[in-house]
Amino acid sequence: MNNNERINNILHHRDYIKNVRILEEYERNREFCRHDLNHFLDVCRIAYIINLEENLKYPKDVIYAIGLIHDIGRVLEYERGVPHNKASIEIGIPILKDSKFNEEEIKIICSAIDNHRIHKEDKTSLESLIYRSDKLSRGCFNCKAIDKCYWSEEKKNKNIMY
Ligand SMILES: [Fe+2]
Ligand SMILES: [Fe+2]
Repeated sequence: MNNNERINNILHHRDYIKNVRILEEYERNREFCRHDLNHFLDVCRIAYIINLEENLKYPKDVIYAIGLIHDIGRVLEYERGVPHNKASIEIGIPILKDSKFNEEEIKIICSAIDNHRIHKEDKTSLESLIYRSDKLSRGCFNCKAIDKCYWSEEKKNKNIMY
C-alpha cells in the first residue's frame, strides 16, 4: 500500500472526520490559533520540509499521520479536560489501525503525538521535529490576538522562517 493511500484512509476515516467537525464547532469563536485541518496539514508539510532539509529520513506517511492526528484529541480536552496529547492517542489508535499502519509504526506515531508539547534538546528526534513544526505553523506575525496569547515572546513567530 502506498503512502498516499494510508494517509487518505485517515483523512476519510469516519471518526476522523467526525472529530474534525466537532473541533471546528467548538473553536468557531476562538480568537487564538485554531486546531483545524489547515493547521494539521501545515504541521505535516512543515515537518516534511524540515525532514528533507535536515536529512532526518523519517518516513513521509509517519510524519503525515502524526500531523493529521496530533491535536484531534482537543475534542476530549474541551469535553472532559483530558490532556489533548493523550486524547489524540486514544482517538488516533483505532483510526491508525483501520488505516493499515502496523503496530511498530503506531508506537512511533503515538510517542511523537504524546510528546508534541514538550521542547526537546535533541533536534534530530521525531518528537522534536513535530514540536518545531507545530510551533512554526503559527502565523503570529499576522495575529490579532498576539498581545493576549500565552506564548512567550521568544516563542512567537514574528517573522517568516524559511
Ligand atoms: Fe497540540
Ligand atoms: Fe498543533
